[in-house]
Amino acid sequence: MSAVLTIALDGPAGTGKSSVSRGLARAMGLRYLNTGSMYRIVTLAVLRAGVDIHDAQRVADIAGGVDLSVGYDPDLDQAYLAGEDVSAEIRGDEVTRAVSAVSAVPAVRAQLVQLQRALAAGDGGVVVEGRDIGTVVLPDADVKIYLTASPEVRAQRRNAQNIASGVEDAYEAVLADVKRRDHLDSTRAVSPLRPADDAVIVDTSDMNEAQVIAHLQELVQQRAGAHR
Ligand code: DC
Repeated sequence: MSAVLTIALDGPAGTGKSSVSRGLARAMGLRYLNTGSMYRIVTLAVLRAGVDIHDAQRVADIAGGVDLSVGYDPDLDQAYLAGEDVSAEIRGDEVTRAVSAVSAVPAVRAQLVQLQRALAAGDGGVVVEGRDIGTVVLPDADVKIYLTASPEVRAQRRNAQNIASGVEDAYEAVLADVKRRDHLDSTRAVSPLRPADDAVIVDTSDMNEAQVIAHLQELVQQRAGAHR
């Protein structure tokens, strides 16, 4: 157990990972780092530069020059590209469609992993959310959690969110997209999405957000206590 608590929280989209990571950080008074936002900011920079997202060399060149920053506050969405607040734009369809390709470029990953380690090592404990935190970014994290849920449950959740924000009901299309992204993320050559050998796997299919947060808090307390 290191002096500060580091929690790696990985898993595919639609498991409630972001809300749960934020909730856990809030409940335990820890910093929160969203690594997906970083891949999204780089993707936005690539799109704005008019570069083909499948041209790995040019994508890597753009990524190398990106001035990005994110915040640690679980209650705020803070994502900046060259000082501009892009927190809403990076959640849009255009970035969401392109981010898998950009995040598969090895040079992009190498650069962001380095930045993520530096940010995680800052002052105080931290919950770091992503896809490869327990396997690559923080292999020595004190607690590693891998959230899962069935593709159908994840698609239902995403579709319900879409409907709530005024987007039409399109369950089948959302399910196809969930499966497409799972496939891309878990079969890419660099850092494929998979649980670390020492991660605790938590299936959230039959749990609500509050239940998952309470469960994880207990788990962290047990594990952290056992290491002391
Ligand atoms: O969690 P998210 O949907 O905001 O992540 C956006 C994309 O970034 C997703 O396609 C996977 C990728 N990603 C990654 O490859 N590694 C991470 N540590 C975080 C996100």
